[in-house]
Amino acid sequence: SPLTSKTQSPPTLSIDIDNPASVKRQLAQIFYVSLKATVPDEEDVVPLVDVCTAKTGGVKFGDYQCNNAMGIWSKLKGKESGFRGPPSIGQAIINNLPPSEMIDSCSLAGPGFVNVVLSKNWIAQGVQRMLSDGIDTWAPRLPIKRAMVDFSSPNIAKEMHVGHLRSTIIGDTLARMLEFSRVELVTRRNHVGDWGTQFGMLIEYLFEKFPNQEDVSETAIGDLQALYKASKLRFDDDPEFKLRAQQAVILLQSGNPRYRKAWQQICAISRAEFDKVYQRLGVQLEEMGESFYNPYIPGVIEQLDKLGLVEESDGARVIYVEGVNIPLIAVKRDGGYNYFSTDLASLWYRLNKEKLEWIVYVTDIGQQQHFDMLFKAFRRAGWLPHNENVYPKCTHIGFGLVLGDDGKRFRSRSSEVVRLVDLLDEAKRRCKTALLERDTTSDWSEEEIEKISEAIGYGAVKYADLKINRLTNYTFNFDQMLSDKGNTAVYLLYAHARICSIIRKSGKDIEEVKKNGYIVLDHEDERLLGFHLLQFPEVFEEACSNLLPSVLCDYLYTLAEIFTKKFYSNCQVVGSPEETSRLLLCEATAIVMRKCFYLLGIEPVYKL
Ligand code: ARG
Repeated sequence: SPLTSKTQSPPTLSIDIDNPASVKRQLAQIFYVSLKATVPDEEDVVPLVDVCTAKTGGVKFGDYQCNNAMGIWSKLKGKESGFRGPPSIGQAIINNLPPSEMIDSCSLAGPGFVNVVLSKNWIAQGVQRMLSDGIDTWAPRLPIKRAMVDFSSPNIAKEMHVGHLRSTIIGDTLARMLEFSRVELVTRRNHVGDWGTQFGMLIEYLFEKFPNQEDVSETAIGDLQALYKASKLRFDDDPEFKLRAQQAVILLQSGNPRYRKAWQQICAISRAEFDKVYQRLGVQLEEMGESFYNPYIPGVIEQLDKLGLVEESDGARVIYVEGVNIPLIAVKRDGGYNYFSTDLASLWYRLNKEKLEWIVYVTDIGQQQHFDMLFKAFRRAGWLPHNENVYPKCTHIGFGLVLGDDGKRFRSRSSEVVRLVDLLDEAKRRCKTALLERDTTSDWSEEEIEKISEAIGYGAVKYADLKINRLTNYTFNFDQMLSDKGNTAVYLLYAHARICSIIRKSGKDIEEVKKNGYIVLDHEDERLLGFHLLQFPEVFEEACSNLLPSVLCDYLYTLAEIFTKKFYSNCQVVGSPEETSRLLLCEATAIVMRKCFYLLGIEPVYKL
């Protein structure tokens, strides 16, 4: 299937974000002053400032570049401006820059690019300030107070599959990112599928198996998936059973106590199984299943009807939306409700009762059209702003399939669906085996071994998922994700543990060093590390406004690489004349790494 990045373009970078620690934004402010002076008659000049990457070829000439000259030249062409071309505009931009401690030097390159070399003292001070004031001062501020991430959301009595695992991992990270962006209330909502026709069939089968309801204990119906399969067989084979199952749905929905009790028992068993997964992943959701919204459906559909959105089609009640030729089915032909009906009501509830400003839905990409139609229907009704970037807004975050090594949908060897708990336990078990083989672990307590293998095992599963662009399909492979080389959580956790051990080896109290020491970035690799640390605020902003955890993973991996392969290889820390400054750089790196781990839902490890 065409799962390219074209299937979902990220929302544009919100200009509302307040992110004072962003180097890019600080430079943009300085360049704004200069642009105003350079072309005073031009309105709406937006400073185009970007970090220099190897790709733009600027890496040798500067840290950032300002790319306004060409655009200004093409606007000015024909007018009497006194400029001879983009380079002369570039030169004027340089000349008009207000004095700033940020900038060491500027140079002109190519057709008018202005390259900026930052002052290394300024970089050092920035890192130093983070150490004294805390990394939360590096958080941007989103202009909203209440957000929700609707994720995980497995279906009761059906299996919780790897797709739900991806949703759980990605959704929790997005929630953490919104929290770090100072959104006051971030709700993690579990929209479990606890309503629908499958319950009629399940309950009826249960009653058949246990004619005496006292016998319906949780242990008796322990294996819900088997129960589901068996009842589905009955449903498909026996028309008489099918009829009873359909009546059971009506009895359940009308509140019959016996049917409601059976339904609750079934939900409780599923929930206990889901919780085992959440507990391992350290994820806490607030459950509000589909059933909750059932009473709201008629009212919401009536309102939509009054607005003239609801049409009759083949006996069903439908809503047409822009650019999609099939309608959204709000009420089925038989008068029943479906997945869509529930989502109409739940979105209405979230906007009107919960007053949410940003609602993020995390599901596999296969549901993209569902959400596209849902949001469009709300826009048609005037219940969401027409501009997708204006709050309140809704965003669907889709992700690709999880594949096995054979390139097919991920299955266990017996071609049964994989039990998520088993999958996570396997990751932990493998880590434990690898840990026990190391001679450094001989004096570790059993408890330590357990904790650390959980941190690495579950962390590896999460990271393998988060590091790839979420739209692409993802191949689940234990050997790859648990390798200690390359872009894996294991490598990153090792790098962090190494930094901690360097600090320990120095024998210094790092809090004391922080109080009295200064960072100096004289060696080029010290400067490189300091510079990359200062990139955190703007990289995080990009990851958060586009809801892309992979951006954060790339940053983290590069940070670990710069630390290990450049800084630590070329700059002796303990026992060197620069020890104090270098210890502070180690500490700053560890702090930024831990913040990244936290945002990715990974438990850090301090020794390995
Ligand atoms: N239960 C659905 C599934 O398993 C996901 C629900 C997503 N959330 C929503 N509001 N529709 O695919």
